[in-house]
Amino acid sequence: MKRLRVLALMHPDLVPPPDAASLPAEARFAYKTEFDVVHTLQQLGHEVRALGVQDELQPIRVAVEEFKPDVAFNLLEEFQGNVLFDQNVVSLLELLRVPYTGCNPRGLIISREKALSKKLLVYHRIRVPAFQAFPLGLKVRRPRQLAFPLIVKSLTEHSSLGISKASIVYDDGELVDRVKFVHRRVKTDAIAEQYIEGREVYVGVLGNERLTALPTRELVIASAHSDPPVIATEKVKHDLQYQERHGIEQKPAVDLPPGVAAKLPHLSKRIYRILGLSGYARIDYRVSPDGLIWCLEANPNPEIAQAEEFASAAAQAGISYPELLQRLLNLGLKGSAFEE
Ligand SMILES: Nc1ncnc2c1ncn2[C@@H]1O[C@H](COP(=O)(O)OP(=O)(O)O)[C@@H](O)[C@H]1O
Ligand SMILES: [Mg+2]
Repeated sequence: MKRLRVLALMHPDLVPPPDAASLPAEARFAYKTEFDVVHTLQQLGHEVRALGVQDELQPIRVAVEEFKPDVAFNLLEEFQGNVLFDQNVVSLLELLRVPYTGCNPRGLIISREKALSKKLLVYHRIRVPAFQAFPLGLKVRRPRQLAFPLIVKSLTEHSSLGISKASIVYDDGELVDRVKFVHRRVKTDAIAEQYIEGREVYVGVLGNERLTALPTRELVIASAHSDPPVIATEKVKHDLQYQERHGIEQKPAVDLPPGVAAKLPHLSKRIYRILGLSGYARIDYRVSPDGLIWCLEANPNPEIAQAEEFASAAAQAGISYPELLQRLLNLGLKGSAFEE
């Protein structure tokens, strides 16, 4: 295997300290993804430079000139605090002719906007929750055919920012309040979606042209204290103690309704192609009790820490974590923008 110079781009606050490998795993929790990637790539024999990027582009240009990376490992989720700007950084890498891991700029733009991506999927007859976007500053008027309960979210943010049990609304008063909450607190447009009761499952896909779908994983909340409806709130996703207390785990999805397990890999690859994704992505679904599959969203550049859904699904498929990261590098090097 060729030794590569890898420029790992990440939030400056999450650059692992030099002694990170000697710290207990809990101490590394905030930057576990960055640590897992940098450390594993180093163990694979690559030369890795971790670069904190947030407010300025100049450090990228300087690193590209001085370090001459073969490939950038993109761990950025935002730029200048804006989650929609990650694609601008990827566009810069394309202009600088630096291959990169993960998704291309167009796929990022399309899938980050929860209404736009759903419109494309509807055109291709893929089942998504009915929805209505509520732009900042405009009056909240619910289309009559959009029935309660609804779940209200930011149109563009991810990581469940602003999502809690109060996001599920049951009448127009609650809808207006929650849309205003998203406008005021998250400071983005909002979207209200038909709330889908059911099991929450995730399918990882990797590839550019030839795609691989990983085994389906499920988000399971075991605790009897967590009364329904259960959703992946900020706490469910990011609060370790809360996860332990409520028995929150992601594990292999077993005993799905007939036909569902067989459909998910093909469906996930179709969605990946429709949204123009590349590198790797995780497609999130709900499976309702009547056995229908509803696509909630596609996440390009999903969480890639060793213990999280994507890498766990890869491990389930017999792809070790180092092998997975190497495949992401290879896909980046072969990325369609650089093939010609
Ligand atoms: N239409 C929906 N029906 C049921 N649950 C939903 C719906 N939309 C979101 N959720 C719940 O909220 C979580 C976060 O929503 P999601 O759209 O994935 O936002 P984010 O981009 O912040 O991850 C989902 O994982 C799911 O548990
Ligand atoms: Mg999500």
